Formats: sequence, C-alpha cells, structure tokens
Amino acid sequence: MAFKKLAIGNDHVAVDMKNEIMAYLQEKGYEVINVGTDSPERFNYPVSGYKVARMVADGEVDGGILICGTGVGISLSANKVQGIRCVTCSEPYSARLSRQHNNTNIVAFGARVIGIETAKDIVDAWLGAEYEGGRHQVRIDMIAEIEQTQHLAAAEE
Ligand code: RB5
Repeated sequence: MAFKKLAIGNDHVAVDMKNEIMAYLQEKGYEVINVGTDSPERFNYPVSGYKVARMVADGEVDGGILICGTGVGISLSANKVQGIRCVTCSEPYSARLSRQHNNTNIVAFGARVIGIETAKDIVDAWLGAEYEGGRHQVRIDMIAEIEQTQHLAAAEE
C-alpha cells in the first residue's frame, strides 16, 4: 500500500522539525494532517502519540509520523494502541526495513537526536518501502497475538 494521506504529531521540542517535515512532504504531494502542537509551551507527547495512532488504527490516514525529543516517549505511547507498529529510528536503513519486514504504520524520530536532512532521509526511506509479507507475516501475527491476548502460544512450545 502506498502511503498518500499521513498524520503527523509532535511535542514542544519538535515544532520546527515537524513544520519542516510537513512542508517537505506536502511539496512532494502527500496530504499531511497536523495533530501535534504548534507552540513552544510544554506539551505532553502521549497526546500526539495517541492522536496519530488512533487515526492510523481507525484507517483515517494511511500512516503516521511522530517527533519528540528522542522519538522514544511518543512511539511508546503510539504502540499502546491496538494495531499500531511504530518504529523509532535515527537512520534510514531501519526505517526502510521496518516497512519491508515489520509492516510499520508509524515512524518516529527525535528532534534532539538527528538533524533535518537525516529526518528527511528517514521519511523518504520509510515512505518509499513496501511491506514484503510472506515469512514476515508469521511474526507480525505473533506480535498481534501478544497484543490481543497478552500471551504467545509459540513461546509455550
Ligand atoms: C521532553 O522533554 C522529552 O522528554 C520528550 O520530547 C521526549 O524526548 C520523550 O521521549
């Protein structure tokens, strides 16, 4: 599935990077819905993590982008929503592989960790890659089993 419509969210640390990434993607023709803060006032990252995750899980958008100081807190928040597979990364290789092997539906990174050019590379790699399915689906199904049942049958074998 090619991602065309995206949601983006951030906390107070990442307002500038969010705006630059949003403009970059809009120039490339993506529709980007901003649900993050636009203010430098302290803002709790779970709010943006949840909002973007909810939109992705509900199918309102094809995928999501999350940015906080490290990318960690906001991705942990997003990953608590059922059906979300959010990767935090600081380089494009993991972003690409996370689409191809893990079928991630949200990418996160840290405005205090990487610069804007690396952020653009990550977003390009992530959006440009396709999920490969096949053998990877078995593992994705296991992740879903853990999420839905708090149990994994294969771990009992
Ligand atoms: C905010 O100070 C910072 O904790 C946040 O941006 C993020 O890095 C959390 O994971």
